[in-house]
Amino acid sequence: MKPEAFGPAVVTWYQAHGRKDLPWQHDVTPYRVWISEIMLQQTQVSTVLGYFARFMQALPTVQDLAAAPLDEVLHLWTGLGYYTRARNLHKTAQLVCDSYNGEFPRSAEALATLPGIGPSTAGAIASLSMGLRAPILDGNVKRVLARYSAETSYPGSTAATKRLWQLAELLTPQQDVAHYTQAMMDLGATLCTRKQPACERCPVTTGCLAYATDQQQLLPVPRPRKEVPVRRITMPILTNQDNAILLQQRPAEGIWGGLWSLPELSDIQGLTTLLHQHQLHSQEQQRLEPLRHTFSHFHLDIEPWLIQVHSSAPLGVAESNWLWYNPSNPPRLGLAAPIKGLIERALIQLPLEI
Ligand code: ADE
Repeated sequence: MKPEAFGPAVVTWYQAHGRKDLPWQHDVTPYRVWISEIMLQQTQVSTVLGYFARFMQALPTVQDLAAAPLDEVLHLWTGLGYYTRARNLHKTAQLVCDSYNGEFPRSAEALATLPGIGPSTAGAIASLSMGLRAPILDGNVKRVLARYSAETSYPGSTAATKRLWQLAELLTPQQDVAHYTQAMMDLGATLCTRKQPACERCPVTTGCLAYATDQQQLLPVPRPRKEVPVRRITMPILTNQDNAILLQQRPAEGIWGGLWSLPELSDIQGLTTLLHQHQLHSQEQQRLEPLRHTFSHFHLDIEPWLIQVHSSAPLGVAESNWLWYNPSNPPRLGLAAPIKGLIERALIQLPLEI
């Protein structure tokens, strides 16, 4: 199969089998496509449907988004996770309004300079909403092309990614790019799936090197197992005379950005300073079972300590990034999930009355 034949074969398949009724495929605008693409980055279509409808109802234009308070945007995002996406949406909307006169720039290169828009999302917005010829290479398309070219390196590696972008560029047709882009996503999501690809229904098997060499089950090769570093921290669970627990808000950047968490110490020796800072006196200290929480790039080993304290000063915390959390009447705030688990475990250990 010649490279020029790839696009038309995929588009013909799309006309018969692709998805054409998703909400962002109606009233197509760069704004709607952008919001849908950001939502779809880490979340499946069925979940995105409701969020997309509510978002568009509340903030129908890029101007509405730019003018909305960040809290409103985060509220509309609650439950979708990866909140940096929502913060970036807000920043990009303001940039589009302030620096681009309220119109999204009309090239994938310019779109990719906006916060939260990577090269593949830029290609998707440019092709789906503006009809510009721009390749995409999201996770699904990477898998399709890694099989098509029998890429023998892990597709996430720098070298393979570069080859796959070149292939994506080569295969993207001059005509019908919007359908082609959607077709490639759909092909990856429905036929060229990670397990059990349905090659018998695929429009491009005649050019597929994985198919020709019967390697479609083996490709793409999995991510090489790497040694994941371990970070060890101590988390004191300070409970006061009202059984409230001292929480600290995490900095906006880094793990659990902006969420509430237990104070973090490099070891239990750091406790003295923390107690002093809050004018607290420790009564009883108990080391609890350690907890491992695994992030994509490291293990976090948490050593929790249950520390019962009393305060010589009125309870109330001066700085705004600290609070006493009353678990029997919890305030509505974002708690990192493993921290919520730790607090629940600690509560079981606590006597009802101190
Ligand atoms: N995933 C990412 N973009 C998508 C789209 N436009 N349609 C369906 N799934 C997607």
